[in-house]
Amino acid sequence: MNKLTFLCFLALLALPLRLADKKHSPRHPDRFDIFSKLDTLEVQEPEDDEFEFLELPNWESDHGSKALLNVDAFGAVGDGVSDDTKAFVDAWKKACSTRKSVILVPEGKRYLVNATRFKGPCAEKLTIQIDGTIVAPDDPKTWDPDNPRTWLGFYNLSKVFFQGKGVIDGSGSKWWEASCKRNKSNKCKGAPTALTIDSSSAVRVKDITIQNGQQMHFVIGRSESVRVTGVKVSAPGDSPNTDGIHITESTNVVLQNCEIGTGDDCVSIVNASSNIKMKNINCGPGHGISIGSLGKNNSTGKVEKILLDTAFVRDTTNGLRIKTWQGGSGYVREVRYQNVRMENVSNPIIIDQFYCDSPKTCQNQTSAVEISGIMFKNITGTSRTRIAMKFACSDTVPCTDLVLNNIDLQREDGAVETYCNSASGFDNGHVHPSADCLSSSALQEKEEVITKSGSEHIIHTEL
Ligand SMILES: *[C@@H]1O[C@H](CO)[C@@H](O)[C@H](O)[C@H]1NC(C)=O
Ligand SMILES: *[C@@H]1O[C@H](CO)[C@@H](O)[C@H](O)[C@H]1NC(C)=O
Ligand SMILES: *[C@@H]1O[C@H](CO)[C@@H](O)[C@H](O)[C@H]1NC(C)=O
Ligand SMILES: *[C@@H]1O[C@H](CO)[C@@H](O)[C@H](O)[C@H]1NC(C)=O
Ligand SMILES: *[C@@H]1O[C@H](CO)[C@@H](O)[C@H](O)[C@H]1NC(C)=O
Ligand SMILES: *[C@@H]1O[C@H](CO)[C@@H](O)[C@H](O)[C@H]1NC(C)=O
Ligand SMILES: *[C@@H]1O[C@H](CO)[C@@H](O)[C@H](O)[C@H]1NC(C)=O
Ligand SMILES: *[C@@H]1O[C@H](CO)[C@@H](O)[C@H](O)[C@H]1NC(C)=O
Ligand SMILES: *[C@@H]1O[C@H](CO)[C@@H](O)[C@H](O)[C@H]1NC(C)=O
Repeated sequence: MNKLTFLCFLALLALPLRLADKKHSPRHPDRFDIFSKLDTLEVQEPEDDEFEFLELPNWESDHGSKALLNVDAFGAVGDGVSDDTKAFVDAWKKACSTRKSVILVPEGKRYLVNATRFKGPCAEKLTIQIDGTIVAPDDPKTWDPDNPRTWLGFYNLSKVFFQGKGVIDGSGSKWWEASCKRNKSNKCKGAPTALTIDSSSAVRVKDITIQNGQQMHFVIGRSESVRVTGVKVSAPGDSPNTDGIHITESTNVVLQNCEIGTGDDCVSIVNASSNIKMKNINCGPGHGISIGSLGKNNSTGKVEKILLDTAFVRDTTNGLRIKTWQGGSGYVREVRYQNVRMENVSNPIIIDQFYCDSPKTCQNQTSAVEISGIMFKNITGTSRTRIAMKFACSDTVPCTDLVLNNIDLQREDGAVETYCNSASGFDNGHVHPSADCLSSSALQEKEEVITKSGSEHIIHTEL
């Protein structure tokens, strides 16, 4: 295509959008820009060539140059009772120092492994092939006090591939019973995360199942270029704080074709995370797909460039949620959620700047994490409650540029509505329930007054 044809092509593409936008908001010159900026938001994905090495030959028949390290060869028993921690540590040491090695956790066995830190840096191209089950000791009373918050922790790795049809099982039920959320007479303290990948880059996690986490199931922290595909996470809907996949201080993360059902957020994205893409996510039961919480205890939280494309959310307490505490600072900006189907979701769309997951009530404060540039596009399905869309924003730090495009949320037994506090933005296309409470409609009235009174200059007060 020559340059001119290409330009014409671009202009043609933009035309219907511009017309549609004009029709809905004749007076606001900024809306097209905001709409198209969010509508075309792309997040940078990990470079595929970073993962090229991962296209393994079929090493079962042809190990090629790969060193296959079966944990059984290091003394693992795999009966679910014997302590296999040392065998795993020894296999790790060997694998980490050998190029192109594959640690194999064989199929059909259960390996009991204590809290362990598997540290890099390692020799290049390490694969962890999990086909069997790795199970945690189930008693919180004998848990290793040196690792109160991690079970299987992987640190400082580059170019590592976790894969297999196996299971990582946190045996969490006694931890859940001990949680202060289950039993108010217990002290509130954190429990281990089942799988942690920290301070790493170019990591790929494929197909494994993570279940019954003591608390969170899978944390991706301080890492970049992480691709998670076909991973399943599961725990009972009433297991406390068992987030599915939690992303913190990480960039260029892709979650794709994941199926997550737990007792807390299916996905939670917190501080210092950007360029996160979620594609084809199944969520439920649980608390939905969340950004936050952010700003707890007056902290700063920054999250930007988040894209969710295609999700099915069912039987959850929230659908798409952004939650921040009063008193925080920082921002959530440039987020697009699109093509999401909800079924029996209590709060399908919710921005909550008064989040307070604490036994004490949280006082309102003047400072808050700023929320702007959030697009919801093609979101359909059923709400379990009357308020299908809730934008509860801080009086002093309003939410701005919330964009709703083609929303259809219904309730089987009654009407639905939208709640707004201190929220501005606009809608485009069919939007049900109506989002008239977004305060840009007030802006339009103001503009009308300004225009009528002869001023040609439109003053931007809110957008
Ligand atoms: C695993 O934990 C148990 C219980 O705390 C302890 O007795 C055992 O020595 C640990 N195993 C290793 C290899 O550290
Ligand atoms: C990671 O490895 C580098 C050396 O490659 C080292 O300097 C750093 O301290 C390690 N970090 C951690 C958390 O182990
Ligand atoms: C709550 O925990 C306390 C000890 O922390 C225990 O005595 C009590 O039986 C527990 N209650 C329930 C309902 O499990
Ligand atoms: C947020 O992330 C930044 C950058 O990694 C870090 O310095 C800061 O301590 C984090 N804040 C909180 C509250 O975790
Ligand atoms: C947060 O800051 C506010 C205002 O400075 C103060 O009143 C409050 O006690 C602080 N909260 C915490 C948890 O530190
Ligand atoms: C809140 O932050 C302050 C100051 O950073 C710290 O001293 C305090 O321990 C924190 N409180 C909680 C509950 O995290
Ligand atoms: C709706 O979801 C709730 C959990 O939020 C669940 O308890 C209830 O059974 C679900 N209802 C239907 C009709 O599936
Ligand atoms: C809207 O999203 C649904 C999935 O929830 C998808 O099947 C449908 O194709 C999307 N519609 C458009 C116009 O993209
Ligand atoms: C905080 O402000 C919101 C919005 O104005 C209000 O609905 C809520 O009741 C206030 N909460 C407290 C604890 O004052």
